[in-house]
Amino acid sequence: MEYNMKNKFDKEFLWGVATAAAQIEGGYIQDGKGLNIWDAFSHIPGNIANNDNCDIACDSYNRLDEDIKLLKELGVNSYRFSTSWSRILPKGKGVINEKGLNYYKKLVDKLLENNIKPNLTMYHWDLPYELERMGGWLNRDTAKYFADYAEIIFKNFGDKVSFISTFNEPIAIYVGYALKAFAPGYGLEKYGRQACHNAMLAHGLAVEKFRKYNFKETKIGIVIDIWNRVPFDENNQDDIRLANDENEGAHKFFLNMILNGKYSDYMLQKMKKENTLPYFKKEDFEIMSKPIDFFGLNCYNRIIVSSENRNIKEDISKRGGNFLNNGQEFYPKAVYDAAKILREEFKLKIPLFVTENGTFSNEEKEINGIIEDIDRVNYIKGFIEWIEKANKDGFDIRGYYVWSLMDNFEWTAGYNFKFGLYQTNFKTLERKPKRSAKEYAKIIKNNN
Ligand code: BGC
Repeated sequence: MEYNMKNKFDKEFLWGVATAAAQIEGGYIQDGKGLNIWDAFSHIPGNIANNDNCDIACDSYNRLDEDIKLLKELGVNSYRFSTSWSRILPKGKGVINEKGLNYYKKLVDKLLENNIKPNLTMYHWDLPYELERMGGWLNRDTAKYFADYAEIIFKNFGDKVSFISTFNEPIAIYVGYALKAFAPGYGLEKYGRQACHNAMLAHGLAVEKFRKYNFKETKIGIVIDIWNRVPFDENNQDDIRLANDENEGAHKFFLNMILNGKYSDYMLQKMKKENTLPYFKKEDFEIMSKPIDFFGLNCYNRIIVSSENRNIKEDISKRGGNFLNNGQEFYPKAVYDAAKILREEFKLKIPLFVTENGTFSNEEKEINGIIEDIDRVNYIKGFIEWIEKANKDGFDIRGYYVWSLMDNFEWTAGYNFKFGLYQTNFKTLERKPKRSAKEYAKIIKNNN
C-alpha cells in the first residue's frame, strides 16, 4: 500500500512512542529501588507465561543513551514513559531514593536536549509492594500517598515535561483486584470496584495538588483505554444488553467518575444489586472530577460481543472485515469511534492524544536483513488514517503514540507478545529496528 501522508497533520502534531517503567526498566532492586506489585507477582510461579519476570526486562535503567538513540532514529517529537513509584519512594511513602529520582531527571534532560517532548505517566500499574502490604488500592490512604508521590513529580518535573498523566488505564487495577489476572492477583468483584474508586480518588487528589503550582508548560490529564464493545447482532437484544453492560463496567465506569463526577445509574443499580458498591464519601466525586487539561486515549481495537458465543470471526470475514495474522480483527476505525464516544456521549472538549496504539505478534522473521512486521505497518497506517479523518470531522486529536518503542515485558504474557517497533533480544538486550520502525520514521518525516 502506497502511503502519502504529507501535510495532513500540522507541525504541532506530536508523533511519539510509549513505554512503561515495569515493562522496560529492569534494575528491579538496583540503586535502592523498592519492589512493586509486579516484581512480587511475577515471582510467583504460574502467574506469568514461561514464568518470566520483569527483573531485567529491556534493562532500560542501564541503557538510557541507547534508548534515546532509538527515539532519535525514529524522529519522534515526543516520548511517553512512566515513572516507577517504588524507584522514587521505595516504601511508597516517606524517604525519597535520590538515585532513582535522578534516573528520571537524566531521562527528561536528555529528551529536552534532543527536542523530544516528555510525556510522563505517574502510575502504569506498578504499585509499591510496601503499600500493597497495607491493603494497596483497597486502602483509602493509598490515594493520599499517591498524591504525595505526585507532588514529588510536580516539584521535580513541573515546567520541564509537557504532559503528566496521573494513571494509565486504571481498568488494570480492576483486573488485578477482581479478576486475578494482573498483580496483585485478587479475585473479588467488590475489591475491583473499591480499588478503582480509591484510585480515581487518588487521581483527583493529585490534580488538586497540581493546580497549586500554576505551571505554564505542563498540562495534567489521565489515560483511559476504550475497547468499545459492539453487539454481534445489532437486532439481538441480548447482544445489545451484553455490549452495554461491558462498556458500563469498563471505560464508562472511569469516564463517569472523572468526567461526570458520578457512577452511572446503571452501575449504581448493578453494584447495589450485586453488593459490590464501594465505600465512598460524598465529596469523593467532586474530587475525582476536577477539570483536567488533556485526555489520553489508548485505543487498540473494538470488541464484538455475542450473547450466544457465535463464531464472530467467520461472520465478520463474510461482512468484509479483515484480520491480522495474530487473529485480531483489523478495525482501525476503532479510534474514530472511541473519539466519538468521548465527544458525543461525554461531551469532552479538551485536547485528545492517542497515547497508545499498537499490535502484537509472537514471532517475527528476519528476511534479507530486516525484521518483517508488515501487519504492524498496515495497522499503524490504518489508525493514523482514521485519526486524520477524525480531525477533519472536527475532533481535536493532537498526538499519536505507538505502543511500543521496543519489545518488552508484556505483563502476564511475559516476553511472548511482541509489540515493539524495535526487536529486543532478551539474551543480549540488543535492539534492532523492524520494518515498522523504518516506516513509522518515514511517516513522521513526511509530516515535518
Ligand atoms: C497497556 C500496556 C500494554 C499494552 C499491550 C496497554 O493496555 O497500557 O502496558 O503493554 O496495552 O497489551
